[in-house]
Amino acid sequence: MTIPLFDTAAPLETLRETILERIATVVRSGRFVLGPEVGAFESELAAYLGVRHAIGVGNGTDALAIAARALGVRPGDDVVVPSFTFYATAEAMASVGARPVFCDVDPGTRNVTVETVRAALTPRTTAVVVVDLFGLPAPVREIRELGVPVIEDAAQALGASQGERRAGTLGDIATLSFYPSKNLGAFGDGGAVVTDDEQLAERVRALRFHGSRDKQSFELVGYNSRLDELQAAILRVLLPELDGWCDGRRAAAAAYAAAGLGGHVGLPAVPEGTSPAWHLYVVTHPEPDRLLTALHEHGIQARSYYRTPLHRQPAMVALAAGGGELPATERLAATNLALPISPVLGAEQAAEVVAAIAAA
Ligand SMILES: Cc1ncc(COP(=O)(O)O)c(C=O)c1O
Repeated sequence: MTIPLFDTAAPLETLRETILERIATVVRSGRFVLGPEVGAFESELAAYLGVRHAIGVGNGTDALAIAARALGVRPGDDVVVPSFTFYATAEAMASVGARPVFCDVDPGTRNVTVETVRAALTPRTTAVVVVDLFGLPAPVREIRELGVPVIEDAAQALGASQGERRAGTLGDIATLSFYPSKNLGAFGDGGAVVTDDEQLAERVRALRFHGSRDKQSFELVGYNSRLDELQAAILRVLLPELDGWCDGRRAAAAAYAAAGLGGHVGLPAVPEGTSPAWHLYVVTHPEPDRLLTALHEHGIQARSYYRTPLHRQPAMVALAAGGGELPATERLAATNLALPISPVLGAEQAAEVVAAIAAA
């Protein structure tokens, strides 16, 4: 493929030597779990976000389960989650014994709204998971006004902002993923839980280490889920680059628009005051598969996401609350197509993609 869907390698080129040096330092230190690199990364991430606590965990899925447990979600509780998202969002709630109650999204932003969340609330709802889908921050603060604690799943949105606040600081607690293809990607799995709340942070720290605060007394049934020193050392090199990379992603989206993409497909709606991090640049078209074939013929990678929304996934059909129709979700599942996006996708490549779509 001449234009890949993601380009995770090119942005790392100039950082290669520094990364290798940091890896060598960790190897020499002999400390691999919960050492100085993780501590330093947690402080740097918290400072970047402007929050009091960032706690490294094993991955973004564990981050969601741990965040739910820290909030007090218990077996038998209902948790509202979007159906149009990656499976882990709902899976993590099911893994703590809660029942996912699926809600619809806005067809333009592809995010949940106050109305779609309100329609899914039940007397047993103890939390809502709001996903900043594809890197666009959702109306988390408005949803918090419904009075139910909100977990912001910002796995795809690190580097985005809404007004003065960064994605990952909008909920009562937020979760991040450092999966390699993410905007801030480690060289393996990694994640974090982020919060301003001291008590929640303390519970998260205990839960990531078997439910213990002091490694002697085990107060909770927890997890063994830590970010490791090697990943933290690598992420410390990458974090200062993140804003520049997100600028590159936004420039690529602007280049698509300037090349006339909106004349051929539906573009994501971006609310006033929101600065997306465009983890994925997803457009809509009545025949996405026809466009996909045409793009592949031109050597351009593309892909439809979440074709089977979560409320119709086999594991969730049995588990989740039945009921409501999710028309926007169904339509997005059938019509979406992610186009190449990366910090280094230039205007020429954007124009090439748009020309291939126009020809199709
Ligand atoms: C929206 C969303 N939530 C959660 C996750 C889970 O993260 P991880 O793969 O690090 O477990 C991902 C990505 O994989 C995601 O895209």
